[in-house]
Amino acid sequence: MRRFVLVGEKARASADFLLVDIPSTSGRLDVLLRALRAGLLVSHGVRTDTLVYLLLLGDPERKRTLRIEGAAARYLRPDERSLATTAKKALNTPCDQAGFTPVRPGIAVADGGIDVLLPELAGSALYLLEPNAPDIRACSQLDAAADNAFIVGDHLGLTEPVRQVFFALGAQPISVGPRALHSEDVIAIVANELDRRSG
Ligand SMILES: C[S@@+](CC[C@H](N)C(=O)[O-])C[C@H]1O[C@@H](n2cnc3c(N)ncnc32)[C@H](O)[C@@H]1O
Repeated sequence: MRRFVLVGEKARASADFLLVDIPSTSGRLDVLLRALRAGLLVSHGVRTDTLVYLLLLGDPERKRTLRIEGAAARYLRPDERSLATTAKKALNTPCDQAGFTPVRPGIAVADGGIDVLLPELAGSALYLLEPNAPDIRACSQLDAAADNAFIVGDHLGLTEPVRQVFFALGAQPISVGPRALHSEDVIAIVANELDRRSG
């Protein structure tokens, strides 16, 4: 299983953003949606071995997490507006149970941020993506067939407290090269590396 955890420090946990102006009305949900597409969708298909988590941490009073599961999701289209519409519907769903509430097949939403995510990652090898870390190409311990979770920041990057939470859980820092790239490009490279290792 591949898991991508996208940490949106400014992304708001609210459905009241405008589809015609996602970046400035959602706290840059657009960054997370492009990263979602890069992690989950391939040409004319969905990666059935992949789960993507969008952590929406931008509202001080309410954090929420969206979970998109490739094996179960239907009718996901690659354009940002369509993915934003899916996120909007999920954010309009009341969370009346602990953990994730199903929205439609493959899409679920939970109240909370890293706290609701941690049980999901209990069996995963954790990798924290950042430039200047050891190169993924030289990472012999990365087993593409295992359950791996990759933590990636938004346009602002991962905060020190978030980094420390994942390092305390045993996350390994890993890089896709020396230049700081956009989140979606980092995820595309990681997915490609796993594809190559999978043969
Ligand atoms: C646009 S970058 C963040 C840039 C931000 N200004 C910073 O300095 O962290 C988004 C995320 O992509 C990941 N990232 C960017 N470049 C990377 C690289 N070369 N290797 C691994 N991860 C990278 C990191 O997780 C980062 O938080």
